Amino acid sequence: MEIIKSYKSMQQYADRIRSKQETIALVPTMGFFHKGHLSLMKKAKEVSNCLVVSLFVNPTQFAPDEDFDSYPRDTERDLALAEKESVNVMFMPEREELYSSEFQTYVNLEKLPNHLCGLSRPTFFRGVATVVSKLFNIIKPHYAIFGQKDFQQLAIIRQMVKDLNFDIEIIGVPTFRESDGLAMSSRNKYLDSNQRKTALCLFQSLEKAFALVQAGETDPARIIAKATSLIESHAKTSIDYIKICDPMTIEDVVTIKKSALMALAVNVGKTRLIDNRILEIKT
Ligand code: PAJ
Repeated sequence: MEIIKSYKSMQQYADRIRSKQETIALVPTMGFFHKGHLSLMKKAKEVSNCLVVSLFVNPTQFAPDEDFDSYPRDTERDLALAEKESVNVMFMPEREELYSSEFQTYVNLEKLPNHLCGLSRPTFFRGVATVVSKLFNIIKPHYAIFGQKDFQQLAIIRQMVKDLNFDIEIIGVPTFRESDGLAMSSRNKYLDSNQRKTALCLFQSLEKAFALVQAGETDPARIIAKATSLIESHAKTSIDYIKICDPMTIEDVVTIKKSALMALAVNVGKTRLIDNRILEIKT
């Protein structure tokens, strides 16, 4: 496994792979790997021989009051896990390598960020779209793999690839969960043992919603009310949003017709957790 830190060397590496008619798959990450990240790497290996994983805690997607400084980091452990997944290259630039002091070009989407996480984190998706565009230009992948756990992020990347004509196939991978259902996340590390139990209420409310829709419920308001009371029955939770929306536009739906996306963000103590699930009407 090679470790590459400079964007020029990474571009040259990508050119060499491409000149051999081989394909490159990219898994962008901010590190502190868990099984969700590893499932993306496994998927990447299925589609391509050359797997590049980027590890970069991207400052432009954190607001000044967010957890950029304290975001969990463990590079040695990450490198050992990547090695086991037969990663070919770890691209690990320093901050200055991607953002010079003169940096001033951002990628902004007009509509998709104006919902869900974009409302409470107004510059988040600008940071994500910008860094992912930069990674695409540096790593020159044929495939890029993203998790459905960050559903809105995946929708935004797909739209950006279409709008900016990136010649890259985006692959979405299902959410990897702990055995009790909690979606794996690097931020789960912040939870103490009581909060870890409470955190399960996100998954439980999605499961309950799914069961309601399977039983014939089509009114988002009633489903959201039930999910809200389930979550609020736990101490130290505060709901950022619970939404039932169109998975393509991320806009609220008035009635569930065939299927819809339920997405939620909840603070458990100080830790902000997100999860989502497609709700389907029984046919
Ligand atoms: P990060 O949170 O490290 O996540 C990297 C990738 O892993 C994302 O595509 C995310 O959706 C996926 N992922 C996270 N938890 C998952 C789970 N439980 N199951 C499956 N996939 C999961 O998302 C980011 O980093 C950043 O925003 C990034 C795209 C790297 C841009 O900086």
